[in-house]
Amino acid sequence: MDLQLTGHRALITGSTSGLGEATARLLAAEGAEVVIHGRSGDRAHEVADSIVKNGGKATIALGDLGTDAGADQVAAAAGDIDILVNNAGAYEHLPWAEATADIWLHTYNINVVSGVRMIQRLVPAMRDKEYGRVVTIGGGLSMQPFDNHPHYNASLAARHNLAVSLARDLAGTKVTSNVVAPGAILVPAVQEFLTKLSPERGWGDTWDEIEYNSVREIVPNDRVRYGRPDEIAGAVAYLCGPYAEYISGATIRVDGGTVRGAF
Ligand SMILES: NC(=O)c1ccc[n+]([C@@H]2O[C@H](COP(=O)([O-])OP(=O)(O)OC[C@H]3O[C@@H](n4cnc5c(N)ncnc54)[C@H](OP(=O)(O)O)[C@@H]3O)[C@@H](O)[C@H]2O)c1
Repeated sequence: MDLQLTGHRALITGSTSGLGEATARLLAAEGAEVVIHGRSGDRAHEVADSIVKNGGKATIALGDLGTDAGADQVAAAAGDIDILVNNAGAYEHLPWAEATADIWLHTYNINVVSGVRMIQRLVPAMRDKEYGRVVTIGGGLSMQPFDNHPHYNASLAARHNLAVSLARDLAGTKVTSNVVAPGAILVPAVQEFLTKLSPERGWGDTWDEIEYNSVREIVPNDRVRYGRPDEIAGAVAYLCGPYAEYISGATIRVDGGTVRGAF
């Protein structure tokens, strides 16, 4: 299936690793020109070079989206964008007792306001051009939060909310706004965290044992595994193309059935 992304230019924030990197690679393989973004130049160059080596089109835009100046820098380097994937973000595994007010504010800035900054800089031109896609990465913890890292859970909920508000604001335009909500996805930091926790939880010694037992204990789901970054990328890529023109203000959950809701 051709997702018809050729000729579109996509900025994927936070594409130096994890879900963002997988998304950039897939959008490029589907014909989009991608802009790789992060704060780390070395890693951004590595990802962009590897995409180009595989026949894709990639440039880079560096900047800290936690500041207005950083967002200005990223928007200027990114250029004429018609697909924005708001993916950059961070999470710290802290319980309520350790998540200070400053940590809440910092998390809101990095995970929520970062995306708002890019929407404000890039969406006006999408309206004028009469094509645009904004995909915000949310998460299942927005609707089914853990007792742990409350600041992170709440920041995901804010992302879902703002993406739907944006869709309403875009009514009557050719620009859509949607959410992809991952469950627990296996990126290196997640694997490292679980492997460290395993001896104390008795999940096993091999990764297969740790994955099976930790999923059943922490994020029980119908697929009995963690998701993979490519599975998030697939949902984002679909929303970026013309086949998704009639979808706006929606959430696609990619979580193996972790969230136990019919809607
Ligand atoms: N993995 C999961 O299970 C999961 C589940 C649900 C939602 N999510 C969300 O998906 C997104 C990606 O997660 P991931 O697991 O792929 O994480 P990751 O591997 O740590 O990637 C995070 C990306 O965000 C960038 N970033 C972080 N802070 C930034 C800042 N202040 N300014 C600009 N860029 C910044 C990082 O780039 P540099 O380090 O180069 O700056 C990196 O490219 C996050 O927003 C996360 O909340 C993840």
